[in-house]
Amino acid sequence: MQTDFLVIGSGIAGLTYALKVAQDCPDKTVTIFTKTQSDETNTKYAQGGIAGVMDADNDSFEKHIEDTLIAGDGLCNRQTVEIVVKEGVQRIHEIIEWGAQFDKEPDGDYKLGKEGGHSEFRILHHKDVTGKEMERALLEAIKKAENIQLISHCFVLDIITQHHLGYLVTKSTPDIECYGVYVLNLQTNKIETVTAGVTLLATGGNGQVYRTTTNPAIATGDGVAMVYRAKGRIENMEFIQFHPTALYEPGVRGQSFLITEAVRGDGGILRNHAGEAFMERYDERKDLAPRDIVARAIDNEMKVNGTEHVYLDCRHFSKEKFTEHFPNIYAKCLSIGIDITKHMIPVAPAAHYSCGGIKTDEWGRTSIKNLYAAGECASTGLHGANRLASNSLLEAMVFAHRAYKDSVSNVVLRKASPSGGGLEGAGIPDWKTDGTTSPKEMILITQSVKELKLLMSDYVGIVRNNERLHRAMKRLDLLFAETEELYKKTIVSPQLCELRNMITVAYVIVKSAEFRQESRGLHFNTDYPGKSEMVQNIVL
Ligand code: FAD
Ligand code: SIN
Repeated sequence: MQTDFLVIGSGIAGLTYALKVAQDCPDKTVTIFTKTQSDETNTKYAQGGIAGVMDADNDSFEKHIEDTLIAGDGLCNRQTVEIVVKEGVQRIHEIIEWGAQFDKEPDGDYKLGKEGGHSEFRILHHKDVTGKEMERALLEAIKKAENIQLISHCFVLDIITQHHLGYLVTKSTPDIECYGVYVLNLQTNKIETVTAGVTLLATGGNGQVYRTTTNPAIATGDGVAMVYRAKGRIENMEFIQFHPTALYEPGVRGQSFLITEAVRGDGGILRNHAGEAFMERYDERKDLAPRDIVARAIDNEMKVNGTEHVYLDCRHFSKEKFTEHFPNIYAKCLSIGIDITKHMIPVAPAAHYSCGGIKTDEWGRTSIKNLYAAGECASTGLHGANRLASNSLLEAMVFAHRAYKDSVSNVVLRKASPSGGGLEGAGIPDWKTDGTTSPKEMILITQSVKELKLLMSDYVGIVRNNERLHRAMKRLDLLFAETEELYKKTIVSPQLCELRNMITVAYVIVKSAEFRQESRGLHFNTDYPGKSEMVQNIVL
């Protein structure tokens, strides 16, 4: 299969990019692969909203830039922050034109919410299901574009580089180039070779590496793992953001339900089991301090009091006010017997967002030629050591736009070879399946996934130390060896590939955490409680 523009991922980053290149280049083909259903993405679950300076009377670019820099704890790239904040407003207007609806006041102005770390009300939202609404609007626009094909249930295995043509590729190879991808079509069970002029990775986050996460099952860090295997650059992976308030539901596995920070923005108060509003003891911004501070405070309260959760108190809200902004949360709580007007909501931190990722420049270019990355899988320099709430949907749209601009203007689209055997006669080989058989026991995969999640949660969570990181690495080595052995002799499946990708991502997180010998933002190591004088990114 050949396509001009290849997009891996159907969340906000992938769909925004695809729409833009398709509109600008109507004679070119755009192909989107997504590994399960088209709308099953982190994007769909975004609740709080998208940050943007929409109220110029009370807010300003400078304030949004400053808030982002403060949250990022000294590690943001100021130029990137300015780009995202300033260009973001245009991108918000575009998605509104594509049909996304955000809540409005009776006078027609947008209703703006507030979340942790924001000095002003600047969060546009669609009730408490903002991401679902944005995903809906984008998917509808995609359906109308004749030169886009969105193919669901296609699991991308690896990006194709010179390595697949038989050349030695290392981290120091100067011009690593991406020719396309190998993809497992889950409808036909065949592995196809797909060549492309330009490839965009928009594969989202990696929350599934942890036992408790707000991320859906698709969030296994595949893009980061693929680039790492292809010897591309990965940056700042130690900064895993734990959302302070996921609903605590004992026995629920997989994805935890989020209680958006906007609830605290509207006045929700965190309390411990004694009923104390404990955030006063940790930060003068109390419940609306940046996420790293609130998550660590909750973690400390839970450890000191020996409890598995704290509470979010919304009993002082009127039912009308709460249900108007948060109908989905109200219904979810009620479904498990919590009437938020009478009971406090049990909450605990959960892995939520990957601030680091595939290193990109100001045009979304990765270190591999013809390969772009945007959205949560990318590390653009916006978030630094800690992402400001509701900045990620904004970042995804801004960098999808920039990647589109660069890819249509600078990249010469390739011609497929007349023989159809690859690019310009390059002769890309088919995926090798010789000597592999069907897996005999799924337990070999599922048990390793459990072990991985446990070790990451226990040793590489909100609070870390050298001993824990060392233990995590030793256990990862064993899981890696066992999984590679299985991989060599087994026919590939999404489950096995996801396990392999998650081990790679976990390894990169631990390695980066070991390199960062200080505590900054989301990375807190009790062996190095202070900040280092040298402010640096960790690039692997
Ligand atoms: P995603 O939307 O996650 O899409 C990833 C895509 O990649 C999927 O289509 C997936 O199938 C595909 N994919 C992955 N691997 C492969 C593979 N191997 N082969 C083929 N396809 C693959 N951010 C905000 O700014 N505001 C919020 O209010 C907010 N709330 C959030 C609430 C929750 C519960 C969560 C989980 C996140 C929230 N975030 C929020 C973060 C934000 O939603 C995400 O960072 C953002 O949506 C990521 O978009 P994306 O396009 O990068 O990736
Ligand atoms: C939330 O709604 O609390 C999540 C916002 C975000 O992750 O940016």
